[in-house]
Amino acid sequence: MEPILELESARLSLRQWRDEDLPAFAAMCADPQVMRYFPAPLSRLESAALIGRVRGHFAEYGFGLWALERKDTGAFIGFTGLSVVGFDAPFTPAIEIGWRLAREHWGLGYASEAAWTALRCGFDRLALQEVVAFTTETNLPSQKVMQAIGMHHAPADDFEHPRLAEDHPLRPHVLYRITREQWLQTLHG
Ligand SMILES: CC(C)(COP(=O)(O)OP(=O)(O)OC[C@H]1O[C@@H](n2cnc3c(N)ncnc32)[C@H](O)[C@@H]1OP(=O)(O)O)[C@@H](O)C(=O)NCCC(=O)NCCS
Repeated sequence: MEPILELESARLSLRQWRDEDLPAFAAMCADPQVMRYFPAPLSRLESAALIGRVRGHFAEYGFGLWALERKDTGAFIGFTGLSVVGFDAPFTPAIEIGWRLAREHWGLGYASEAAWTALRCGFDRLALQEVVAFTTETNLPSQKVMQAIGMHHAPADDFEHPRLAEDHPLRPHVLYRITREQWLQTLHG
């Protein structure tokens, strides 16, 4: 299949990463508020390495975490996209949807708009049967995005993130799912 390099929504371009995105991306990932539900903010080197891994995912699978650009200002504002879950859990193998936006672009509906666009790509173009999302149980802003795009949470799916230490406060995670059939129902009411 042809790689899906670009997507578009009403207000956003979901595009490939540019080297020039690094300063804004590194600033976002160094912001303690943006990273409060992750183990730690990232150094500039860690952010650069993350961009490298995201590019590698696109090269391997033909989809990934797209860089988000506002059409009105041209600003890089974060990422949203689909990726292969990289650890073993009761729900894997699976494709997850995820997002991270710079703080000055929160509260404007951009995360949900981009998530909706990525989800549609997953079902329409990649013909996925199911998409999952997960986050630490206290990350309610992220769970709101999951709910906004029609994902469902079943407590029986909740899990302990295997990459975090057993006593880490962020370890308990919630899992949200949406199947292709559920997505079609949200489209057609
Ligand atoms: C999770 C995250 C992306 C959510 O961002 P967000 O801007 O709150 O999410 P949305 O794009 O859905 O915006 C929804 C908000 O915008 C408001 N809004 C304004 N204009 C809107 C529009 N045109 N359409 C939809 N919502 C709009 C909504 O009322 C809502 O506000 P509320 O939360 O006060 O009810 C953001 O908090 C983030 O980047 N967090 C840090 C990284 C992170 O935790 N990522 C997830 C890890 S699993």
